[in-house]
Amino acid sequence: MDFKEHIIDKLTELTKLDRGTVSGAVETPPDEKLGDLAFPCFPLAKVMRKAPPLIAQELASQLSSDELIDKVDAVGGYLNFFYNRAAFINDTVSAARSAGDGWGRSDEGSGKTVLVEYSSPNIAKPFHIGHLFSTAVGNSLAKIYKFLGYDVQSLNHLGDWGTQFGKLICAYKRWGDPEVIEKDPINELLKIYVRFHEEAEKDPSLDDEAREYFKRLEDGDEEATALWSHFRELSLKEFNRIYDMLGVKFDSYNGEAFYSDKMDEVVQILRDKGLLVESGGAMVVDLSDMDMPPCMILKSDGATIYATRDIAAALYRHRTYNFYKNIYVVGLPQSLHFRQIFETMKRAGWEWSKDCVHVGFGLVKLPGKNMSTRHGDVIFLEDVLNESIEKTRAIIENNNSAVDDIDDVSKKIGIGAVLYTFLKNSREKDIVFSWESMLDFDGESAPYCMYGYARGKSILRRAEGIDYSNADLTKSVSDDAYTLVKQLELFGDAVKDAAAKYEPFYVTRYVTNLVKLFNKFYNTNPIMRDDVPEDVKKARLAIVDAVCTVIRSALALLGIDVVESM
Ligand code: ARG
Repeated sequence: MDFKEHIIDKLTELTKLDRGTVSGAVETPPDEKLGDLAFPCFPLAKVMRKAPPLIAQELASQLSSDELIDKVDAVGGYLNFFYNRAAFINDTVSAARSAGDGWGRSDEGSGKTVLVEYSSPNIAKPFHIGHLFSTAVGNSLAKIYKFLGYDVQSLNHLGDWGTQFGKLICAYKRWGDPEVIEKDPINELLKIYVRFHEEAEKDPSLDDEAREYFKRLEDGDEEATALWSHFRELSLKEFNRIYDMLGVKFDSYNGEAFYSDKMDEVVQILRDKGLLVESGGAMVVDLSDMDMPPCMILKSDGATIYATRDIAAALYRHRTYNFYKNIYVVGLPQSLHFRQIFETMKRAGWEWSKDCVHVGFGLVKLPGKNMSTRHGDVIFLEDVLNESIEKTRAIIENNNSAVDDIDDVSKKIGIGAVLYTFLKNSREKDIVFSWESMLDFDGESAPYCMYGYARGKSILRRAEGIDYSNADLTKSVSDDAYTLVKQLELFGDAVKDAAAKYEPFYVTRYVTNLVKLFNKFYNTNPIMRDDVPEDVKKARLAIVDAVCTVIRSALALLGIDVVESM
């Protein structure tokens, strides 16, 4: 039985308001002491021509307690409802336990496709910490939407096209040493790319050569294409090491190159709509009435650019997936770019452009010499992950914890700690990376949440042999049990909020609070102690079991794997 719906039914009957109005008005009181649900009587004052406090009192006197409601108080202009705690705990824990991994899920997304584009590093360029941020947020959002029943496609829009590939081919042909590059592809390719720029300054004919190579690449020349695809493969191999460590998978790696033959159509559409205007030899869409600089579509040499490829990609995605939402998890510095292309798409008459969303995120600061980075490259990021794993291992060894597989446990905690850091706050906030808070087992961190889970599992292991499947949940009613179970009930709401606002931190905050309340619960509600009556013990074990399942589900939505003991 849904407590909230029950109260809405009662209020609707009593006030003769329509049900939607009542359900829109009820709210959660700011303080638990004020009850579980409140109904503000202010909107009734006009109709009933009475002061709200009086209305509240009259209504309270007409509402009697029942099997779900303990009491109704009138306070000021509010009606405050208190649930019957035993019934609430019993209902919620039973429902959560029978739902198992399905608790909090919904089918709101059924039949709808959500595209989540994230990570999207550039070939032959460093995978920097911003790409890692994008990867953490995008991976989590993809999981969140799946949990809500959406068909999700994870897209990696690789930066694998553009005039810089002409330069890279030119540089490779002059100075590339295949053996050296094979060993450390990204850094070495970057090196010759930088060298190209230095040399081109002295000898501008290099630029012409590079242009020629890019032209050849565009025309499908065999040698140029083979080199390009070699660079792409080498880079992807590096990126995949990071993705493997994080457990991240993509459904598509169609990058900018994939759209290189799909841009003529876009240019034609924009031209036909009369949107293209000339500006210094280039073709642009004028957006001055929106206070934006023009969106560049064709460069003066006729070459297409980043924005054009993005517009072609959006059109392709619309046709291929008929998406419900097309989400771009890309850093905030690209906000203007996305506003420009979305506006251009809108002017092209594509009404679905309203379903394209830029999900931006802040900057990452790396304080301290241990975390400084010269290149911020893929090696460096692997170092960050490995260092996190090593530090975790040291902490576990120091604690003398009984852990079965220390490699596995350190890895899961170490990686979880990094992911959590990116998902802890509203994504637009800048992040300051700090080992101390990342690996603080007592603070708001992945290890803290994971420890809560492991702790619960260890209680359940000790209870092996006790059958609590039919526990009478009304036997464990206490303040801390009640607060904990109320939090348990809110899981689905947290997931929905996260999806609606593209903010995984709703889930992060949810699970952190759940663990906090869980710690409090098992400190004040002894479970396996000898003096605890059998029926109370069983009821508490059932709560522990339900909470563990939800901690695991919630952390999974953040891309974090739990460990059974730590
Ligand atoms: N490759 C770009 C970068 O590293 C990010 C691509 C973002 N996605 C897009 N559809 N423009 O900055």
